[in-house]
Amino acid sequence: MFGRDLLSIADLSPDELERILQTALSLKRDGGGASLLAGKTLAMVFEKPSLRTRVSFDVAMQELGGHAVYLSQAEVGLGQREPVADVARVLARYVDVIAARTYEHQTLLELARHAGVPVINALSDEEHPCQALADLLTVLEHCGTLRGVRLAYVGDGFNVAASLAEAAALAGVSLALASPAGYSLPEGTLRLVDRLASENGGRIDVCASPAEAVAGADVVYTDVWTSMGQEDSYAERKEAFAGYTVSAELMARAKPTAIFMHDLPAHRGDEVTEDVIEGGQSVVFDQAENRLHAQKAILALVASETAL
Ligand code: CP
Repeated sequence: MFGRDLLSIADLSPDELERILQTALSLKRDGGGASLLAGKTLAMVFEKPSLRTRVSFDVAMQELGGHAVYLSQAEVGLGQREPVADVARVLARYVDVIAARTYEHQTLLELARHAGVPVINALSDEEHPCQALADLLTVLEHCGTLRGVRLAYVGDGFNVAASLAEAAALAGVSLALASPAGYSLPEGTLRLVDRLASENGGRIDVCASPAEAVAGADVVYTDVWTSMGQEDSYAERKEAFAGYTVSAELMARAKPTAIFMHDLPAHRGDEVTEDVIEGGQSVVFDQAENRLHAQKAILALVASETAL
């Protein structure tokens, strides 16, 4: 994977996804890799705010022996102060890898087209692949396997859901989705996930209600109803998502051993109740920690010539 971009989960083969997860597990359990990226620099170009992604990329670079430079939109003015293609070509003269968080996926594609160094999607309006890899790592740790695990996603069919669904399909996870009308995954993504699932022994079911999706699940996953940049539609969305809150009553329909997942930040009282996110089934902080381990694996594989 050396020299490759990671813009979408669908860029990966099932073997590559497995390699990232196994590398992350190995780095997490056994440590090592402290000089893997010695002398290498990551540029983090972020158009939107972040806690987990920014800090975990920064720490990941430090733990692999390299370092990171954070660049906010106020400084870079991606596509405003300077064309995206010029930013890409300038950064590539200084750094070895770029992680970019953009409003539009097209901006990310343009960065990658011109950079000449690996570009990692740190969230766009279409995908959040780093989150999905950390999510599968968390499921693997808690469930002991991915193949055949029943994962219910309840909520907005946006970027987090798209990457999660693609990753689940590649790994042979059985996926049940429930979203209000008008907030499902795009048709193109559903077709892609359906194909990936049938090729890799998984399945995807689009369900009529959260109760149907969650019945018998091993994992119940939700995300915010209003993502960054959609704040003006909060009232409309709150109405549309009524009945989609993951509550203790909904969790009771899943297996007794089921885990609750959320990529954070969470809006308690909207997509999840306080008792569920703070309860014994919640693994949301394991998920947040796994952002670090998954991203160490991604960085090591795309930016280090040394095979792991
Ligand atoms: N889940 C996630 O990407 O968090 P941040 O927006 O804080 O990076």
